[in-house]
This record gives sequence, structure tokens and C-alpha cells, in this order.
Amino acid sequence: MWSLGQYTIISTLVLLLQPYVAVSSPSGATTHLSPNMQKLALFQIKQSLSINACDHVICVEERLPSYPKTMDWSMNSDCCKWNGVTCNQTTGDVIGLDLSCSCLEGSIPSNSTLFQLSYLQTLNFRANDLNGILPERIFHLPNLKQLNADGNFNLTTILPKINWGSRSSLQMLSLQETTISGGIPHSVGYLKSVTIFSLSSCKITGLIPKFIGNLAQLTELNLNYNNFSGPIPDSFANLQNLKYLSLRDNKISGQFPTWVASLTQLKFLDLSGNFLSRPLPSNLTARCLPKLMLLNLSYNLFNGTIPSWLFDLPSITRLFVDHNGFTGQLNEFKSSTLLTFNCANNLLSGTIPQSLSKLASLISFDISYNNFSGVVKITTLNPNIVDLGLASCKIMKIPHYIRSLEKLRYLDLSNNQIGGEIPQWIWKGSLNQLNLSYNYFNGGLQHLPENRLIFLNLQHNKLKGSLPASICNSSSLEVLNLSNNNLSGVLPVCPRSLNYSLAVLDLRMNRIRGSLPSSLSNFRELKSLNLYGNEVEGTIPLSFAKFDNLEVLDLGSNHLKDTFPQWLEALPNLQVLILKSNKFHSTINSLSKIQHPFPSLRIIDLSNNEFSGPLPAKYIENFKGMMNGDANKIESIYMGNSYYRDTVKMVIKGVELEFVRILTVFTTINLSGNSFEGDIPESIGNLKSLRHLNLSHNHLSGHISSLIGELFMLESLDLSFNRLVGVIPQELAGIYTLSRLNLSHNDLNGHIPVGTQFQTFENDSYVGNLALCGPPLSKKCKREFIEMQDEEDEDADYFFSGFTWEAVVIGYGSGVVVGFAVGYIMFRTRDPKWITGIIIKKIGLKVRRSEIRRFF
Ligand SMILES: *[C@@H]1O[C@H](CO)[C@@H](O)[C@H](O)[C@H]1NC(C)=O
Ligand SMILES: *[C@@H]1O[C@H](CO)[C@@H](O)[C@H](O)[C@H]1NC(C)=O
Ligand SMILES: *[C@@H]1O[C@H](CO)[C@@H](O)[C@H](O)[C@H]1NC(C)=O
Ligand SMILES: *[C@@H]1O[C@H](CO)[C@@H](O)[C@H](O)[C@H]1NC(C)=O
Ligand SMILES: *[C@@H]1O[C@H](CO)[C@@H](O)[C@H](O)[C@H]1NC(C)=O
Ligand SMILES: *[C@@H]1O[C@H](CO)[C@@H](O)[C@H](O)[C@H]1NC(C)=O
Ligand SMILES: *[C@@H]1O[C@H](CO)[C@@H](O)[C@H](O)[C@H]1NC(C)=O
Ligand SMILES: *[C@@H]1O[C@H](CO)[C@@H](O)[C@H](O)[C@H]1NC(C)=O
Ligand SMILES: *[C@@H]1O[C@H](CO)[C@@H](O)[C@H](O)[C@H]1NC(C)=O
Ligand SMILES: *[C@@H]1O[C@H](CO)[C@@H](O)[C@H](O)[C@H]1NC(C)=O
Ligand SMILES: *[C@@H]1O[C@H](CO)[C@@H](O)[C@H](O)[C@H]1NC(C)=O
Ligand SMILES: *[C@@H]1O[C@H](CO)[C@@H](O)[C@H](O)[C@H]1NC(C)=O
Repeated sequence: MWSLGQYTIISTLVLLLQPYVAVSSPSGATTHLSPNMQKLALFQIKQSLSINACDHVICVEERLPSYPKTMDWSMNSDCCKWNGVTCNQTTGDVIGLDLSCSCLEGSIPSNSTLFQLSYLQTLNFRANDLNGILPERIFHLPNLKQLNADGNFNLTTILPKINWGSRSSLQMLSLQETTISGGIPHSVGYLKSVTIFSLSSCKITGLIPKFIGNLAQLTELNLNYNNFSGPIPDSFANLQNLKYLSLRDNKISGQFPTWVASLTQLKFLDLSGNFLSRPLPSNLTARCLPKLMLLNLSYNLFNGTIPSWLFDLPSITRLFVDHNGFTGQLNEFKSSTLLTFNCANNLLSGTIPQSLSKLASLISFDISYNNFSGVVKITTLNPNIVDLGLASCKIMKIPHYIRSLEKLRYLDLSNNQIGGEIPQWIWKGSLNQLNLSYNYFNGGLQHLPENRLIFLNLQHNKLKGSLPASICNSSSLEVLNLSNNNLSGVLPVCPRSLNYSLAVLDLRMNRIRGSLPSSLSNFRELKSLNLYGNEVEGTIPLSFAKFDNLEVLDLGSNHLKDTFPQWLEALPNLQVLILKSNKFHSTINSLSKIQHPFPSLRIIDLSNNEFSGPLPAKYIENFKGMMNGDANKIESIYMGNSYYRDTVKMVIKGVELEFVRILTVFTTINLSGNSFEGDIPESIGNLKSLRHLNLSHNHLSGHISSLIGELFMLESLDLSFNRLVGVIPQELAGIYTLSRLNLSHNDLNGHIPVGTQFQTFENDSYVGNLALCGPPLSKKCKREFIEMQDEEDEDADYFFSGFTWEAVVIGYGSGVVVGFAVGYIMFRTRDPKWITGIIIKKIGLKVRRSEIRRFF
């Protein structure tokens, strides 16, 4: 038993001993602690780290048990029985420490007693919140075989340039999703025993070091999600034991490495998401890669034809060549092992190959978005097929064999030329995701299946008639997109009897009539309700206050006639509220009953209505979602999807699908085209992350508050067509992000402020203010010697500055928000020209060249 006194004495002893017990001095001499001292050393590690919430994302996602393992470490018990501790049973020395998913937070200082545990062979800190730097001393531990610190997102490691105490023993080094500072030093080339080396998502830049090819024992090499550029070194040909190689999502260029043919043990090869180009070698033979099961070449720049050896690989089960520039016809291919094949988004041509019928094990294939002729030569398919992607294949009729695929769960026939009624059998099968959008289906929608179907996309067809009442009986449906059809009739009144799963209901651009039934709120799971561009009339039911999950409410362009629906202020998740172009009227009473009204709102558009009275100052004061000026932080995170945050996100059968996505940085207030009067509330200066403000075409009076100058992220400001007086506050010129300004048609006077952008705006920004003077207006001010400043801030602007608020709304209006286009598609296709084209075409914006450049 340990008394407190003894404990203090020993801990003092440890401190005194410290210089002598320093592990593995450069000469290699090592002093070892007795088992009791090791226990004390462990205990001090426990004390130096704090216990955090047990919700680390890795542990949650991988469903690993997560609990504070060190919590019950007590000096009164045998440390070899402590949670996470392994000892050598003979000697009692501590040889293993597994503190993965242990809810730990804090740093490991370089004088940590951890480094005294010289017998340590395995050390696992995976999925905690360790931060500060991981001291180099960890690599001096002389017996270390395995080190895992994956998923300590704020942990930085500097790999030692010399002195790996563990040089000959280290077998596994895994530092995924931490930061490696200083790159991979040459010393790594001497870790002869390493079999598993994983530096995935470590923010490493530069060439892939050649000396990694010296690690001949490697079986697993994972360098994905970094920023490696240049070619894959030829020295990798030495990695004869390699089974798993992933270089996915870097900036690697060059050709497909032909030396792959010498890696005969290879099972998994992922080169996707790089800039590899040129045709694949045609002289490889399938025999070279007898064990290869997965080959992922997606999202590269490969061209030429797809060589036949890909289909002859004896063990291949999953083959991805999508999103490249492959041309030609698909070779006659057959493979009895292939389960998944994806060649979508290439330039393949000819008929849809009959040889698909010969792939006897195929359960998933996607040939969407190629240049196939529309002629389908397939006569049969493996009846066990589960996923089938035939989008944009110029198909004119639903292929008949689809009817017999009894296990089909996912079917994408979108973007074809199929007309007629939707066949009834399609509702009877086992489908849970169906995409028939962008076709010419007409006729009515009779019966939606009551269960199974989760996702149904029928947008952009010619469907008519009313919404089927059977929607009220569907408990499985989560996403229903019927936008851009010719549906009429009224919204169904559904009883409360069922537990509805519907999360997205998109009826935009139809001819739905009648009023909003208050029973709509029985769809408690709704996150996005979009009725934009219909003929809905009447008022917004009070029951909408029950939509706890609602994030997007778009009722724009209808015939609603109501006062402002104040009861929506309590919706905790509402981010987008669009009531534009209706007949909403009267004063908005923003003296709300709750402390934080509209806590999540980021886009509000009440334009073109008949609102009157003062601007809703109390609301503006409280828009929390527009205040936290942390949007820059979001932009600076490069990895993954983080340019924007998902709003409606769901997992369907293990596949995460994302629907309406709203850029976190798209913060917009549009109250234009009403009869608001009075001053612009000063509290608007609080909305630090506001990007777009449009108060034009109202009856606003008074001065422009200089506090608007505090909106340091503002990109567009439109106050035109009001009755504003006084001067343009000089502070406005300090908003460096401002790229669009309209102050025209007011009663402003005095100098146009001299500042970075204020002279770059055109006359139009200022006309109609008789007493304004100075450039760019031709009217000279009386005394003028204010220096012009350079335009050097032009490029210091950030990523999303080409968007006006219109872009937001239209982008949002087109549903898969512009953010989706920019963030996701750009990340995926890396085809800036294309995107810019799309955005500009879609939105019809005039974008300045410098802005286009700044997008990328
Ligand atoms: C335990 O220690 C003994 C004696 O040093 C050694 O022979 C044995 O290999 C060790 N066992 C492990 C699992 O390290
Ligand atoms: C480590 O050093 C810090 C000061 O740098 C000191 O406060 C701490 O007590 C030391 N810890 C140990 C275990 O020696
Ligand atoms: C990383 O550190 C920052 C500031 O030190 C903190 O705000 C953030 O929550 C940390 N992130 C994680 C994942 O621990
Ligand atoms: C990636 O590397 C390129 C040079 O190859 C560099 O310009 C860029 O800043 C790097 N990006 C990140 C996120 O490190
Ligand atoms: C293949 O790569 C693409 C792009 O990186 C990725 O989306 C896909 O999930 C990968 N497939 C597999 C099976 O890893
Ligand atoms: C394939 O041809 C390339 C040159 O085009 C050559 O470098 C490579 O060694 C050849 N590979 C095999 C397996 O023959
Ligand atoms: C492949 O692309 C390169 C340019 O990246 C081009 O020079 C070459 O002709 C293309 N080859 C084929 C077969 O299309
Ligand atoms: C698509 O195929 C047609 C012939 O079917 C051909 O004329 C056209 O050039 C091809 N388009 C592309 C982009 O390869
Ligand atoms: C459905 O088809 C449309 C049109 O081809 C496409 O944009 C969309 O991504 C497809 N998938 C889903 C999940 O909507
Ligand atoms: C919904 O289900 C109920 C009970 O099964 C049934 O009586 C009713 O006819 C169904 N309604 C529709 C529109 O299918
Ligand atoms: C929509 O349906 C109506 C009749 O219900 C028809 O007059 C109109 O032309 C249709 N519109 C379109 C775009 O098909
Ligand atoms: C529904 O379809 C429209 C196009 O008609 C699309 O813009 C929108 O993104 C889709 N809605 C959802 C929620 O995916």
C-alpha cells in the first residue's frame, strides 16, 4: 500500500533521477526504471492529462468504445492491471500502453515521465485531443515497435532527423490526421523494420521522398490526403511486400507507374484524386498483379482507351476509373470476380456495351455521363445487381431487363430522354433510391410506395396532376424532389398518425395552389421545405412553429398574404427564410417574446413584399448566425468539404448524401422592394459575418451609419432608391471585401470617400445623388487633394467574393447551392474553367476578371 508520504518521496525521487534516467542517450546507453518507478511514471502521465468529453469523432464514427481509461488508475493497485496497460508478465515491465479513445486532452511535455518507460513497445494515443507538439523524444524510446497517434487533430509532430532510438525496432508508425511539420526527413529511409507507415492527412507538401522506396518491409503505405506533388518515385518498385498503397487526394502528376507490375503482393491501390495523366500502359499483363482486388483511378486526367488488362486481373473486385478523360469504346470484357465497376464521367462512346452482361458477379455499376450513343445492347444483367447508374446515356426507354432486377436498390436514369408515364412496376420493386430527374416523364403520380423508397428525385420532368395522397402513407421517404414539373392541385392534408421521415420536400416551380395546410407540420423531420414559384395563397399556419428541425423555408414567389410570421423566430435551426415576392404586409413587430429570436438565421430575404414601418431592428440586433465572424476560419480549413457546412445531410444505406447545402459564408439580408421607413439601425454593425446587405427600394431616411464600416466581411451593399441623407461615411472605405456598391438615388452629399475600392466602382453606384462629388463621378468637389491609394488589396480578397446576394439566392434557388458547385465540384473535378462557366452562365453575373481568378 502506498501512503501519501511515500508517494511524495518517490515522486521527488523520480524528479531527482530525471537527468540520469533520460532514455536512450545518443551513445545508446539506457537506464531502466524498476517496475514500481514505471508505475509512478504512468501515474504522472495520468495526472498531466485532463479528461475531456468522450465524443471524439473517430470513436463515434467507428463505434469504438470511448471512455476515460486512466480514470481508475490508482496507486493502490497493480499497474499491470490498469486499463490500457500491458506488462511483461515475467519481469513486470510496462511494455504496452493503449490509451486510444480515452477522452484525453492536454499535451505531453518533453519532460514527461512517458519517456522514462524504456521498455515500452506499443504506444497508442489514437483519437484523443492531445495538442502542443509531440516531443521528438518519443522516437528515442529504444524498444518502440508501434506508435499510433491518429486523430489528435491539434497535435504536431516533427520526425527526428537523426537518433531514432527505435530505428531497428519500429514496425508501425501511424500519425493520421495530425500535423507533420518539417516534412519527412531522410532518417525515415533507415527504418528498415517498418511494415505499416501511415501519414494520411498530415498536411505534408512537396515531392514524395524517394527513400521511402528503401522501406522494403512495408506492407501498408498510406500517404493520402496530403499535398504531395510531382511523380511517384520509381524507387517504389522496391516495395515488393506492399499490399496496400494509397496516394489518394494529393497533387501527384506524371503517368500511371508501370513498375506497379512488379508489386506482386498488391491488393489495394488507390491513386484517385490526383493529376495523373496520359493513357494507361497497355503492355501490363494481368498476371503481374495476381492479388489486386481494388484499383481506384478516379478523378485523374488519364486519357486514351481503357486497356483490357484491367478487366483480366484475376482477383479484381472493385474497379474505379470514373472522372477521367478515357475515350473509345469499352473493350469486350469479362471478369468473374468484378463486383463494382465505375466508369462514369469519361468520354467513352459507342453503344452501351453488351459485354456488361458477361460480368457474372457484378452488383454495382455506373456508366453515367459518357458519350454513349443511347443504343443499349445489354440483353441481360446479373440478376443480383444492386446499384445501377445509367444517367446521361441518351436512353429513350427504360430498359426492360431492369424490371427483372429484383435486388435493385439504387437506380439512376436521370438526364436521359425517357418520356411517357412512369411505369407502375418501378414502385413495386425493392428500390430505395430512384433518380428519374431530367427526363420527359409526363402523366400523373399515382402511388408512392409506403415503405422502402427513401429517396425520390423527379425534378425537371413534365409530371402533372396533384401530389398523390399516398405521400401521407409513406413512412420511409426522406427526400422527395418534384421541382420543375407541372404539378397542380393542393398540398395533401396528412394525419398525424405516422412517423414520417420526410426531411426534404422540394416542390419548387410547379403550380401548386391553395393554402398551406397546418397539418404540414406533422412532417416533423422536415429540414427543407421549398415551395418557391407556386401559386400558394393565404397565410403561414401557426403550426409551423413546431418545425424544430427546419433549416430552410422557401416560400418565395407565391401569393401568400400575411403579416410577418413572428412565430418562426423560435425555430432553433432555421438558417434560410425566403418570403420574397409575395404579398406580406404591415409593420414587422420585432419585439420578440424570446431572448434570441432566429438564432441560426443566415439568409433572410423578404424582398418585394409590402412590409412597412421601421426595419426590424430587434431582429437585426439578434441574428446570432450572422455575428460570429469566424467565416475566415472556415475558409482556411482546406481539407475535405470544409469550405461550407452541410445543412441537410443524411445517411441513406450507409451512403452519405447531401442535399441543400448552404455556404456558411453566405450571410445575406435582403429587405429590398418594400416600404420600410426610418433609419438603418446601428445594430447592423454587429453582424460581423454579413456578406450581402440589400435595403434598396424602400423609404429609408437618415444618415448612413458609420457602423456599417464594421461589417468587415461585407461584399455587396445596396442602399439605392431610398431617402438617405448626409455624407458617405469614410469608414465604409475600410471594408476591403466590398466588391459591389450601390448608393444611387438617395440624397447623399459630399465627397465620395477615397479608399481602395471606392474609386473602382462605376458611376452607377452613385448617380442620382445630386450633391455627391469626386471621382468616379465627373462632378468635382470644391477642394480636392485627397490622395488616391493603390489598388493593392484587389487580390488580398478572399475566395468567395464573386458572389452577390443574388448569387446566393439564385444559387440557393437552384438548390444544390452554389456552394455545392464551388466547393464540392471544384474539389472533385478541379476544373476551374468549367465551374466558372457554369456559375456565370447559371447566374448571369457580370464578374470581374480578378474575381474569377480569385475563385481559384
Ligand atoms: C519479457 O521479458 C523476458 C525477460 O527479459 C523476455 O525474455 C521476454 O521476451 C519478454 N516478453 C515480452 C512479451 O516482451
Ligand atoms: C516539466 O517541466 C515543467 C516546467 O517546464 C514543470 O512545471 C513540470 O513540473 C515538469 N514535470 C515533470 C514531470 O518533471
Ligand atoms: C484545436 O485548438 C484550438 C485552439 O487551440 C481549439 O479551439 C480547437 O477546439 C482544437 N481542436 C480540437 C479538435 O481539439
Ligand atoms: C500545396 O503545395 C503547393 C505547391 O505544390 C503550394 O503552393 C500550396 O500552398 C500547398 N497547399 C497547402 C494547403 O499546403
Ligand atoms: C475511389 O476514389 C474516389 C475519389 O477519391 C472516391 O470517391 C471513392 O470512394 C473511391 N472508392 C473506393 C472504393 O475507395
Ligand atoms: C511497358 O512499356 C513501358 C514503355 O512504354 C516500359 O517502360 C515498361 O517496362 C513496359 N512494362 C512491361 C511490363 O512490359
Ligand atoms: C492525352 O492527353 C495529352 C495531353 O494531356 C495529349 O497530348 C494526348 O494526345 C492525349 N492522348 C490521347 C490518346 O488522347
Ligand atoms: C460523342 O460521340 C459523337 C458520335 O457519336 C461524336 O461525334 C462526338 O464528337 C463525341 N463527343 C465527344 C466529346 O467525344
Ligand atoms: C440525380 O440526377 C441529377 C441529374 O442528373 C443529378 O444532378 C443528381 O446528382 C442525381 N443524384 C441525386 C442524388 O440527386
Ligand atoms: C393509407 O393507408 C390507410 C391505412 O392502411 C388506407 O386506409 C388509406 O387508403 C391509405 N391512403 C392512401 C392515399 O393510400
Ligand atoms: C402544364 O399543364 C397545363 C394543363 O394542365 C398545360 O396547359 C400547360 O401547357 C402545361 N405546361 C407545361 C410547361 O407543360
Ligand atoms: C430538387 O431539384 C432542383 C432542380 O429542379 C434542384 O435544384 C434541387 O437542388 C433539388 N433539391 C434538393 C433538396 O436536392
